[in-house]
Amino acid sequence: MRLDAILSRYGYCSRREAAQWVKRGRVTVKGTAAKSPSAKAEPADVLVDGKPIPFPDGLYVAMNKPLGCTCSHREEGALVYDFLPEQWMNRGDGVSTVGRLDKETSGLLLLTDDGTFLHSLTSPKRHVPKVYEFECSAPIPEEAVKIFASGELLLHGETTPCLPAELLITGEKTGRLTLHEGRYHQVRRMMAAVGAPVLVLTRVAIGPLRLAALNLAPGEWCAIDPTLFS
Ligand code: URA
Repeated sequence: MRLDAILSRYGYCSRREAAQWVKRGRVTVKGTAAKSPSAKAEPADVLVDGKPIPFPDGLYVAMNKPLGCTCSHREEGALVYDFLPEQWMNRGDGVSTVGRLDKETSGLLLLTDDGTFLHSLTSPKRHVPKVYEFECSAPIPEEAVKIFASGELLLHGETTPCLPAELLITGEKTGRLTLHEGRYHQVRRMMAAVGAPVLVLTRVAIGPLRLAALNLAPGEWCAIDPTLFS
C-alpha cells in the first residue's frame, strides 16, 4: 500500500495531507524515514510519530460498556465511541459495535472495523451465546425456566417464538439468562413477559469471552483475539 493511502486508511490525515506528514519526518518504514508519500509499505512496518499503527490487520476490541451511553454513531448524548481514541473513528472501514446494548444496559460489548467478523458474529445462523445477569423489580417465577427453554415464547408483536434460552435463577429477584439470538430489548421483554421486569441488566459473556476475565472498569477496553470466535 502507498504511504499516503496508509495514513488516510488508518485515520491520521487525508491522502493530500500525507505529503506534509512524510516531509516533516513523522513517518518511518522499518526504522528509516520515509521519503515520499507514494512509497509502498506494509502497514505493520510503519511508525507514525514513533508509534506503530494500531491494529494494522483489523481492529478487534472488547469494552465494558458503561450505563448511559448508546451504541450509535448518530444519536445525541454520550456514545460508546467517546471512550475510544478519536483517530479510530477516521479509519477507512469505520469502527462499529458488534450488535448493540441498550443505553441502560452495561457490560461486554465488542467493536470492530472488520465487516466479515461483525456479520459472522451477528448472523442469525450463528447463535453465538450471550449471557446476561439481571435484577428484577419482582420475584422471578420458577416456571420462567421452562417457558424460556421451550422455544415457544412469543414476544408481543412478533411472529416467531424466541429460540430456547437458559435461565438460571440466582436469587428471588436475580438471574442469569443465556440467549442464542439478539432481538430488540430481548432480555427485558422476556422477563417482562413472565412478570419480572428488569431493573438492572449487564452482559457478562459473549461466546467464550467473559467480562470478568478482562478486568475492565466501565468505559475501559482491551484488544481481543478474533480467532476466539472462529
Ligand atoms: N436485552 C436487552 O433487553 N437489552 C440489551 O441491551 C441486550 C439484551
